[in-house]
Amino acid sequence: MEHDVPTKALLAALEYQIALGADEAIGLAPVDRLARAAASEQPAPEPRPRHRAGPVTAVAPVPLPPVVDSADPVGEARALAGAATSLAALNDALAGFEHCELKRGARSLVFADGNPGARVMIIGEAPGRDEDIEGRPFVGRAGQLLDRMFAAIGLDRLSDLPESALYITNILPWRPPQNRDPEPEEIAMLKPFVERHVALVAPRLLVLMGNISCQAMLGRRGITRLRGQWTEALGLPVLPMFHPAYLLRNPAAKREAWADLLELKARLRKDAEGR
Ligand code: URA
Repeated sequence: MEHDVPTKALLAALEYQIALGADEAIGLAPVDRLARAAASEQPAPEPRPRHRAGPVTAVAPVPLPPVVDSADPVGEARALAGAATSLAALNDALAGFEHCELKRGARSLVFADGNPGARVMIIGEAPGRDEDIEGRPFVGRAGQLLDRMFAAIGLDRLSDLPESALYITNILPWRPPQNRDPEPEEIAMLKPFVERHVALVAPRLLVLMGNISCQAMLGRRGITRLRGQWTEALGLPVLPMFHPAYLLRNPAAKREAWADLLELKARLRKDAEGR
């Protein structure tokens, strides 16, 4: 038939794309990126994050040379992140960071959610499909479990009170294709932004969700051993915990997660008493 060849070719092209991992539409219309690059158009503006302007004190820029060496993505990340003196500026700096390939495959820059005045800052791994669509961290099934877990100890990302609030971000602000683990180079070039993010929020303590976050912030994996043990990073107390996505797959581990939540609650109480 007349249509056989084009249909077959189209199906083959589609199968090839699926095999490459392009199994999901990220826009309503296709984008010819080659034509766009040729016309040297600016990329579409990133959606603004939903995080609220909270009581974040101004933080002086880190005195780093503003040199930007495109062969040195980590150095450029440090310079850009260090120059950001507010969360909005850090968000913009990330949006302008062009070295991470993940950005090109993602629909949204997922910066943060919650109250930047919170005493507790949660650092997850990376946005998944739902987060990529909504532009906010932890909004899918794992995020709903995370909300329930922290609600059980009186913490809520929507709270306006620092003592009952949460602030949530991820190591990676862009969704990796097919939710694959990040490459070490990707973590290395995005870590300066996470470090600056922590400095700007200045929480009392950090909670690291899962192995990727522990790898990035502590240089260690093995969440089964790390979870529930207080450690330190960036001068702050850090509590590693099982990732809620892991808990969805392994409900029996919720017992340990509950113990960790109680440990966190006790630490927050002591911290409040000591102030
Ligand atoms: N898992 C994460 O680590 N972060 C998210 O934002 C969503 C799922």
